[in-house]
Amino acid sequence: MFVGCWLALVALIPMTLGINPGVKVKLSSKGIEYGRQLGMALIQKKLKAIKIPDFSGKQKVKPIGSVRYSLTNLKIVDVGLPQSAVVLVPGTGVRLSIGNAFLRLHGNWRVKYLRRIKDSGSFDLNVKDLTITTSIDIKSDETGRPTVNSVNCVAIVGSVSIKFHGGASWLYNLFTKFIDKALRKTLQNQICPLVANAVSDLNSQLKTLNVVAEVDQYAEIEYSMMSSPTVSNSSIDFSLKGEFYNKGKHQEPPFSAAAFSLPPQINNMLYIGLSAFTANSAAFVYNTAGALSLYITDDMIPQGSPIRLNTRTFGTFIPQIAKRFPGLMMKLLVKTVKNPVVTFEPDNVTVQTTATVTAYAIQPNTTLSPLFVLNLDSSVSAKVLVSGLRVTGAISLNKMALTLGTSYVGDFQVGSLDSFFQIVFKGVVIPQLNVQLAKGYPLPTLGKMTLVNTQLHVLKDYMLIGTDLQFTA
Ligand SMILES: *[C@@H]1O[C@H](CO)[C@@H](O)[C@H](O)[C@H]1NC(C)=O
Ligand SMILES: *[C@@H]1O[C@H](CO)[C@@H](O)[C@H](O)[C@H]1NC(C)=O
Ligand SMILES: *[C@@H]1O[C@H](CO)[C@@H](O)[C@H](O)[C@H]1NC(C)=O
Repeated sequence: MFVGCWLALVALIPMTLGINPGVKVKLSSKGIEYGRQLGMALIQKKLKAIKIPDFSGKQKVKPIGSVRYSLTNLKIVDVGLPQSAVVLVPGTGVRLSIGNAFLRLHGNWRVKYLRRIKDSGSFDLNVKDLTITTSIDIKSDETGRPTVNSVNCVAIVGSVSIKFHGGASWLYNLFTKFIDKALRKTLQNQICPLVANAVSDLNSQLKTLNVVAEVDQYAEIEYSMMSSPTVSNSSIDFSLKGEFYNKGKHQEPPFSAAAFSLPPQINNMLYIGLSAFTANSAAFVYNTAGALSLYITDDMIPQGSPIRLNTRTFGTFIPQIAKRFPGLMMKLLVKTVKNPVVTFEPDNVTVQTTATVTAYAIQPNTTLSPLFVLNLDSSVSAKVLVSGLRVTGAISLNKMALTLGTSYVGDFQVGSLDSFFQIVFKGVVIPQLNVQLAKGYPLPTLGKMTLVNTQLHVLKDYMLIGTDLQFTA
């Protein structure tokens, strides 16, 4: 019972820890403007699908009498949306207003009167001064992806004019009044649903947000939104989880994200702030998975090193090795013993690592006999870049300190092996890590997105990526 309660309590802890986002994304006015352009192209396409039904009927015209008429085959030939604007509505979303829009239609007319007289021709119809306004709500769906929804849409048709080709002039008078009324109604009824449709079509793009971004066999990154976005008067801000998890079983690290806020920025469309928490959650995942360990054999040691991984050369520093294990090759195991700690300071990413280096003699039957264990404290600096849609890195050694942990071959001076382990670290361990870091880690992405004019700055406790976007259909 007691254990059950305790476990229940432990299960709750991650939820209370994970209050702050690991990643913040800011869509600036410039980004919203780009969104407007993409959105308008979509709306324009939708409006071209307006369907105008055929009209037909009977009308008394003096002095001719009853005239049967029909207007058929009305087709949209052009839709113009020359003016549009998106303004941010703090707290809810954006408001889209389209002004001065026009539609051009073409159709056929046909009349029959005085029993047997028939006439027909075509006509052009111009709908001008069309205004459309709608609010667009932005929320988070149940999977943590953004969704948009058009609300309070109003469409007003300014004027309708018609030009007949062929036929007598009295036709104009017959149709104009009634066309005006019927057309306004049918257009006004169709435009807002089509706009709502265009807006909800955006959701299929938004659904492509990689809320779980695959990294490798050990890790994935969760990029789901933690809450609905915050709309201010200059940007839309998204709070994403931004946490590395081991694949399958999500285990929370023993630390949590600190609050941070992105500075107001306007030059790029999008800003992504990646916190030190995100980087440290990666360190936690890889360390917990045992992925931060490496066996080093002699063939991996740079040719230039006079010291080789065999008991003969090590025996010159530690005589017992040569005595007890003559003529054997050796192997090293470098392995982290704690989560590496990543620190972001302005223009400087540093990783502090505590590891052990275990040296073994390889027996002829391949059994490994431990010789000694060294404690290795090291500090590396990382260069971080954005490459495509990924963040890549490369590390270099700042400093390392070796101390003797356990020896199975008597006491010895670790200092005498310092330069050899520098070679091992700089020439083997770091290049191996850099191969992994160069593969990179996926950023949050939507659809077929590319980043242009991208820069990355390391600031205190987070990295700021500023970028413009390009979407291809
Ligand atoms: C936007 O909001 C900020 C802070 O709430 C305020 O200081 C600023 O005057 C506002 N700007 C505009 C253009 O309304
Ligand atoms: C970054 O900071 C670390 C630790 O403070 C320091 O050792 C290193 O030299 C710095 N690197 C750069 C490029 O400034
Ligand atoms: C391998 O050889 C070593 C040294 O001769 C010996 O101590 C060990 O028991 C052997 N192991 C196996 C699995 O044969």
